Amino acid sequence: MHLQTIPTDPIEGQKPGTSGLRKKTRVFMGRHYLENYVQAIFNAIGGVQGKSLVIGGDGRYFNDRAIQVILRMAAANGAARAIVGQGGILSTPAASHLIRKRHSDGGLILSASHNPGGPDEDFGLKYNTPNGGPAPEHVTDRVHAESLRLTSYQIVETSDVDLETLGQTALAGMIVEIVDPVADYAALMQQLFDFDAIRALFAGGFRMRFDAMHAVTGPYAKAILEDELGAPRGTVVNGTPLPDFGGGHPDPNPIWAKDLMDLMLGPEAPEFGAASDGDGDRNMIVGRGCYVTPSDSLALLAAQAHLAPAYSAGLKGVARSMPTSAAVDRVAASLGIACYETPTGWKFFGNLLDAGRATICGEESAGTGSDHVREKDGLWAVLLWLNILAVSGKSVAELMAEHWARYGRNYYSRHDYEGIPKADADAVINRLRAALPALAGQTCAGLVVTSADEFGYEDPVDGSVSNGQGIRISFEDGQRAVFRLSGTGTEGATIRVYLEALRTDPGQLTLDPAVALAPVAQAAEAVSRLAEMTGRNRPDVVT
Ligand code: G1P
Ligand code: ZN
Repeated sequence: MHLQTIPTDPIEGQKPGTSGLRKKTRVFMGRHYLENYVQAIFNAIGGVQGKSLVIGGDGRYFNDRAIQVILRMAAANGAARAIVGQGGILSTPAASHLIRKRHSDGGLILSASHNPGGPDEDFGLKYNTPNGGPAPEHVTDRVHAESLRLTSYQIVETSDVDLETLGQTALAGMIVEIVDPVADYAALMQQLFDFDAIRALFAGGFRMRFDAMHAVTGPYAKAILEDELGAPRGTVVNGTPLPDFGGGHPDPNPIWAKDLMDLMLGPEAPEFGAASDGDGDRNMIVGRGCYVTPSDSLALLAAQAHLAPAYSAGLKGVARSMPTSAAVDRVAASLGIACYETPTGWKFFGNLLDAGRATICGEESAGTGSDHVREKDGLWAVLLWLNILAVSGKSVAELMAEHWARYGRNYYSRHDYEGIPKADADAVINRLRAALPALAGQTCAGLVVTSADEFGYEDPVDGSVSNGQGIRISFEDGQRAVFRLSGTGTEGATIRVYLEALRTDPGQLTLDPAVALAPVAQAAEAVSRLAEMTGRNRPDVVT
């Protein structure tokens, strides 16, 4: 076993996006690619000498190989301890919890979230800070700067660490501790929720299906829902993590979780359905015959969280990403608590959670979470829903109908245009940006523009500023269109168009969402000329 300092050259394009660095797996497997990025992270955080790190991932192809490299590099860089999920597995929220619980100096999470896995698909690596959350921009900027001036990396030559056997071993002076990936997380969930009430719900014949999408939440969901809460065996489907997620996109939405949608909207539907993504931080909620949009789920959870023990004293505040619908704003206003609007990406919630300004946060992209960890948390959302269903005794459809009757309904849809040549996507956004100053007061496809701007955010805790976070155009009557470029794609550019329309009239609460959103969809096209400029007549994915 010996320490090596390997000369290397900087690699272009190692700039972390919305959630770490995501690239094609083969890029990550390329010569020095992973090593350079890991060394850049270590350098950017002042080295890892004497530090402890949590390491784990979603089990996708290359997860295990990458962990071996990271362990050898951490040891070579003088780290004292690596806490690794057994088999290299840790869901993103479980990793966040472990970082916090063990007071470690941060963690490395290997995942490309909901993107497909495999040698020809996607891989990713993200550094989380000691608070358990994704690194804020000033840290990721430093990682990028380090990646551009790297001349060598450090690694020890040694055989592989056994990732399967629980317990401690040593690697070139560093302790490697293999831990059960589920136990600590399950214990945390038990503290937050009324497990007795949920147990009684299942004992009374309530049935659900949880689709783990062949991804990381299978073992977590089986342990908690089936073993702990008494849901029948078979409640969790696709529950074994596979390196290629069974060939699908582990993305919990009506498109990629179509089997679950078909079941829930069909005659054999159980009371409740849910799914989670590749690394376990996203969730999809669907009741019998009733799909709940992520924005509505956030609002419902904020309104009913007091039914769960951890939130019985009320919420300090709520936060949502800018493109997320304003449904939760209406709940916050009625509760008399603050509601923060942040840029896209969970990292922007970190300061608000740390400062005790927000308790529950969410994004339209199926991310919901609270101050129990510093990541969004798919199973947490499912368990909070179960807690609310158990204590209220109502169905998902009843809860949503009552919610809309009280707060109004924010119809919502996101349209994704994928694989657009970068220059074309930039042209659409640049033209919109140039048009903004003159838009207010104009009529687009019959709708009057009430305001138009490019979203910028000043963090209320540390004052940091993030500009260029998406173009938002508000129309009359609570209708809104938002345009932004994805920061997580690995091929070409993705334009996301987010459409919203508020209806408060009791006769308008059960419209077909496509009908309710048709006027704002037309106005969005009129104002952006997206179809004309990209040659795309319809979005690739509608959620
Ligand atoms: C997408 C979602 C965003 C989420 C991120 C990471 O980012 O839109 O809400 O935080 O994935 O899961 P985007 O591709 O839009 O930059
Ligand atoms: Zn994810």
